[in-house]
Amino acid sequence: MVNVFSTCAVFLALTTSVIAKPVAEPAITPAPKLLDKRATSCTFSESNGASSASESQKSCSTIILSNVAVPSGQTLDLSDLPDHTTVVFEGETTWSYQEWDGPLLQISGNGITVEGASGAYLNPDGARWWDGKGSNGGKKKPKFFSAHDLTSSSITNLLIQNTPVQAVSINGCNGLNITDMTIDNSAGDTEGGHNTDGFDIGSSTNVVITGANVYNQDDCVAVNSGTDITFSGGVCSGGHGLSIGSVGGRSDNTVETVKFENSEVKNSVNGIRIKATEGDTGTITGVTYSQIILQDISGYGILIEQNYNGSDLNGGTPSSGIPITELTVEHISGSGAVESGGYNVVIACGKGACSNWTWEDVVVTGGKDYGSCSNVPSVASCSA
Ligand SMILES: *[C@@H]1O[C@H](CO)[C@@H](O)[C@H](O)[C@H]1NC(C)=O
Ligand SMILES: *[C@@H]1O[C@H](CO)[C@@H](O)[C@H](O)[C@H]1NC(C)=O
Ligand SMILES: *[C@@H]1O[C@H](CO)[C@@H](O)[C@H](O)[C@H]1NC(C)=O
Repeated sequence: MVNVFSTCAVFLALTTSVIAKPVAEPAITPAPKLLDKRATSCTFSESNGASSASESQKSCSTIILSNVAVPSGQTLDLSDLPDHTTVVFEGETTWSYQEWDGPLLQISGNGITVEGASGAYLNPDGARWWDGKGSNGGKKKPKFFSAHDLTSSSITNLLIQNTPVQAVSINGCNGLNITDMTIDNSAGDTEGGHNTDGFDIGSSTNVVITGANVYNQDDCVAVNSGTDITFSGGVCSGGHGLSIGSVGGRSDNTVETVKFENSEVKNSVNGIRIKATEGDTGTITGVTYSQIILQDISGYGILIEQNYNGSDLNGGTPSSGIPITELTVEHISGSGAVESGGYNVVIACGKGACSNWTWEDVVVTGGKDYGSCSNVPSVASCSA
């Protein structure tokens, strides 16, 4: 911990040099921070680091986590941070093995700044849990990062490698910028990674995710509920693409004003997918997919369904309880992107449940035409 005395010493030195200037300067108002015990930068490391950081979170304005080794079954818990705390990850952060629900990392607060220092990475070493079953059985796998109840906050430059299962859960947030985050679970492609969602977003507003790189084995982004969510300048590889939903059957079933822009989805099962659960109620309105490049898509280039029931296109009749309105799909570049066994565009809407769409410059080819689209708005088309 940097002690208050050295901070004072710096302040006095500055004051002295200012006073020594011959030209009159405005009076220096003593920084009230000096009286604030929180005006300290605290560094925590190794195996005690997680517990000490949790215990001391109220007394540090900056928390530096340097090569912290989190013991098994423990959350690196920074969920009680005072306003305007900065959290910096340095070196390699590790977690010991245990089968439990997690989360392994939890951060909440207002005006919080979270940063990865150059070369820092968060290494939960998820391969120890991977068994191909994800959250459907096998080993109990801890979720990785609960970014919950963050307001006016930012998370910048975090590199996360190999999460046991879902990576980042964003919930109850209002005003959260996530910039240049990499979630690299690419080893899971061959080592049994499953349900390793990149970002799961619920009940949040004003979330902006920019420049994310996600290599995983489930949704790159899944917005289950929320308003004013933007994902831009991202790359998604290996997973299930850019998703809304599934919507329905939760406590919050409203998705409003979500933008996916200037992004690329490659080597994935789906490119773009909107899943509304059959028979449930809710709202999906104002979703935009713009300037999306698709490449090597095995299942569906674009899949919009109102008959989701845990699996895609289950054969049930699309229902109308979760209308999809004001949907914009434009400038989608996926010429030859869908593999021959996949479908280019599938739209399965309930009667009157899809309206006010904009559909422009959507080129998705390479796969098959789906023969059973239903209630397709006239501007859109299910064939290339
Ligand atoms: C989030 O980014 C927007 C610009 O996209 C900016 O106006 C806002 O101040 C940022 N908020 C935080 C907490 O960094
Ligand atoms: C989904 O629907 C299909 C076809 O109707 C049915 O076989 C399957 O059991 C349903 N799944 C769930 C989870 O309800
Ligand atoms: C369709 O869009 C127009 C213009 O944005 C809007 O006024 C109208 O309420 C919308 N209708 C529906 C059913 O969403």
